[in-house]
Amino acid sequence: MFLSFKQVVWLLLPVLAQGATVNYTIPASAPSGAATLDPAPVGVSFEFFAFPSYFTNVTATNQCLKNFETVTGTWPPIRIGGTTQDRAKYDASSSAYVVYTVANPTDAPANLTFGPSFMSLAATYPGTVVVGLNRGKDDIANTIAAAKVAKDRMKNLLAIELGNEPEYYTKDGQPIALKAGTWDPPTDAASQNNWILSVGTSLNSKNLIQAGNHNEAPPKWGAEELIATQNATVKSYVHNYAHHNYPGGSVSGLMSHAGISSNINIFKADLAAAATTGKEYVLGETNSVSGGGAKDVSPLFGAALWTMDYVLRASNAGIKRTYFHHGTVGLCYYCWWGRYSMGAPYYGAYAATEAMAGGKYISAVDAGTTSYAVYAVYDEAKKPIKLVLYNSDFYSGSGTRGSQTFALDGLTGATATGRRLTAASASTRVDTGGVVSFGGKTFAQGTCVEGGSEVVESVNVVGGKASFTVLASEAMVVYLQ
Ligand SMILES: *[C@@H]1O[C@H](CO)[C@@H](O)[C@H](O)[C@H]1NC(C)=O
Ligand SMILES: *[C@@H]1O[C@H](CO)[C@@H](O)[C@H](O)[C@H]1NC(C)=O
Ligand SMILES: *[C@@H]1O[C@H](CO)[C@@H](O)[C@H](O)[C@H]1NC(C)=O
Ligand SMILES: *[C@@H]1O[C@H](CO)[C@@H](O)[C@H](O)[C@H]1NC(C)=O
Repeated sequence: MFLSFKQVVWLLLPVLAQGATVNYTIPASAPSGAATLDPAPVGVSFEFFAFPSYFTNVTATNQCLKNFETVTGTWPPIRIGGTTQDRAKYDASSSAYVVYTVANPTDAPANLTFGPSFMSLAATYPGTVVVGLNRGKDDIANTIAAAKVAKDRMKNLLAIELGNEPEYYTKDGQPIALKAGTWDPPTDAASQNNWILSVGTSLNSKNLIQAGNHNEAPPKWGAEELIATQNATVKSYVHNYAHHNYPGGSVSGLMSHAGISSNINIFKADLAAAATTGKEYVLGETNSVSGGGAKDVSPLFGAALWTMDYVLRASNAGIKRTYFHHGTVGLCYYCWWGRYSMGAPYYGAYAATEAMAGGKYISAVDAGTTSYAVYAVYDEAKKPIKLVLYNSDFYSGSGTRGSQTFALDGLTGATATGRRLTAASASTRVDTGGVVSFGGKTFAQGTCVEGGSEVVESVNVVGGKASFTVLASEAMVVYLQ
């Protein structure tokens, strides 16, 4: 289906009457501060123990990842890790990917072993992989043995983590913290540095480690404090720095553009510190609400809008890749897909992937202080190729739905086209049968196969100006000529 702009305007007339206008001038060339984009900034993180299940026993996994590769030409980067990486022991004699026992199929194991085939399975993925290994158990020989297998078997290995969210080691009863007695940022940093050096020299590999991996907000825990303790030798074994982030809160708070912008701003000093080392900085594990998500927040369309805006704002800040976490199969409210159904957030990730695909630079056109967002994505020649318009006003599904007209200036070309990321309201859930679409596209429950009919809206650009009306709790990717 191809709707003309006139038809769309007609469809929207009742709400158009209530909307206001926001004006933005799109720079003709990427500003000097524009962030350089990774070829695939939108990544996926898999909980350590659940990774083999996702890759051997969840049909949608390959298709959902492939859909992004179709858009960008690059398989999305993945990371394997999480709390259970610090509960895992490498067993060279095991033929299984993972071995563990749980009382209930939706429990995460208290401990597990994994064999060398775990790394062979990770090696089959056509994109890059970060593998998270154990530091909490304080068994460095075991971790080095596992790291060697990862290095030997995985041509796609991007980096290795040495421990996950170490600030929780005392609370989690992890031996490394209990033995140390005091476990604070300096003791963790000293431990990270010794491990980086031991693992790096044992594997004789520079640029190997994804360091940091804290979850508590910087500056107490994070790259800035860690880097301040690292000498040049330690740094030479670091591939990049990472932080985790779970903003939480209500769905209206989560999807708020001003809220997303201020959340991303907390990483400024860490990013600046990483820049002094010449290493990349990523969000190594993130999602809407910690602990698998919250049922009234994470599976909602509002969380899809959060996903889209959050990864765009992160990329705009210079965060190279953002890995959205996927936990226990069958109990995961924030997951993009499961064994039987799709999650609304996948659509937000898809829209962001589409917006940044083929781009070399990104720069926010708005200041991050209102409900409305505009991003411009630029090509190699610094010419704007795509825009994202986001109206983060909350629409719960009852009452009149507001709208905002984005009046754009500075455009070249004769027409601009748009694809909408839309749903009946911010409360729509795909996993319970609601419909979310991007440019009319949908993804089938259980398989992630693309369906729906394409809807592209076209507007004339007159004197460098064009306008798009975006409903409350809706977004749009605009394609420029
Ligand atoms: C905003 O853009 C609209 C449409 O181009 C125009 O009518 C209006 O005058 C502009 N407002 C400001 C303050 O520039
Ligand atoms: C695959 O998932 C099904 C459904 O939960 C489960 O019964 C089965 O044991 C799983 N198989 C493997 C190999 O994990
Ligand atoms: C591993 O977990 C199982 C099940 O919870 C428990 O019975 C066992 O004692 C644990 N082993 C270790 C070494 O912690
Ligand atoms: C660098 O720091 C590590 C500990 O963090 C230390 O073991 C090593 O000796 C230091 N190297 C140099 C050359 O100072």
